Amino acid sequence: RRLKLPQYNTFDDVVKQLHNAKNIVVLVGAGISTSLGILDFRSDNGFYARLAQHGLSEPSEMFDIRTFREEPGIFYTFAKELLPETHHYSPSHAFIRLLEQKNKLATLFTQNIDNLERETGLSEEKIVQCHGSFATATCIQCKRKIEGSLLYDDIRNQRISYCTECNQPPTKKRKLASSSDRMSSDAYYRENGTEEEEDDVPQAGVMKPDITFFGEALPDQFFEKVGNGDLEKTDLLICIGTSLKVAPVSELISVVPPSTPQIYISRTPVRHTQFDVNFISPFCDWVIVELCKRAGWLKDLEELCNE
Ligand code: OAD
Repeated sequence: RRLKLPQYNTFDDVVKQLHNAKNIVVLVGAGISTSLGILDFRSDNGFYARLAQHGLSEPSEMFDIRTFREEPGIFYTFAKELLPETHHYSPSHAFIRLLEQKNKLATLFTQNIDNLERETGLSEEKIVQCHGSFATATCIQCKRKIEGSLLYDDIRNQRISYCTECNQPPTKKRKLASSSDRMSSDAYYRENGTEEEEDDVPQAGVMKPDITFFGEALPDQFFEKVGNGDLEKTDLLICIGTSLKVAPVSELISVVPPSTPQIYISRTPVRHTQFDVNFISPFCDWVIVELCKRAGWLKDLEELCNE
């Protein structure tokens, strides 16, 4: 991709783009929620580092669908750390809603599962939750879908949540995973204080929040948005607070036309792809506020933040 650095390399150049653009695509990750106390995944003090401290040898295994089917307790031991305790949203969230109010937002692709974009009032049809969210949950056996909030008590109390329709919790303790003594299962049973080996109990009837795990397909909505040709019309791409390490979301940046200016706002630079403008700042909110100030939108942003 030919970069357009001479044209788009200052705050004011980006502001000009913001004023001119009519079909902005925004792609966000965990970095837009860390100012609210929610952990990101791959920072030194992020969620995966924390899982590693608890002994998980492969932290991202927590989101592996095979692991979940075999040992849902691993997910239920740690999921409370990701469950948002807040309905507040950050200026970066508000900015996306502001773009919609100004009729500039084509689509928000979010990898976040905290569901906080919705709190800003953003229209449903603008949001693609690429990795799902805690908002709903599905029984892995009978596929019954329920409100995700019905699981919150179990998640907060680190209990596996079972479907009330098709299954009761197993009465016997699960056998330790026989094969490998993987760190992950050790860690889980350490947390849960059981070392007894008993008959294997099928993990049917476990409820799973509708988060897209590794090994699962992304929601249809993602592929519809990518496949319907709309991204061709993108006239500005803004990526905020994501390491762009997870495919296929990371590949979105190559789906927009090569001539579309691409802006990256985050704490850590990305090395594996090039943007026209990189705003590297400890807090993406600072960059957003500065852009809005220069665009003459600060009052609008403040109003949204105070709602
Ligand atoms: P990562 O943790 O990989 O990346 C977050 C990025 O945001 C990093 O580059 C941080 O430096 C940056 N960052 C953190 N706080 C920031 C702040 N206040 N201001 C600016 N930048 C900040 O998170 P994602 O890219 O979202 O999957 O991770 C993608 C997926 O990997 C997630 O959706 C998750 C995970 O496996 C699921 O939840 C299923």
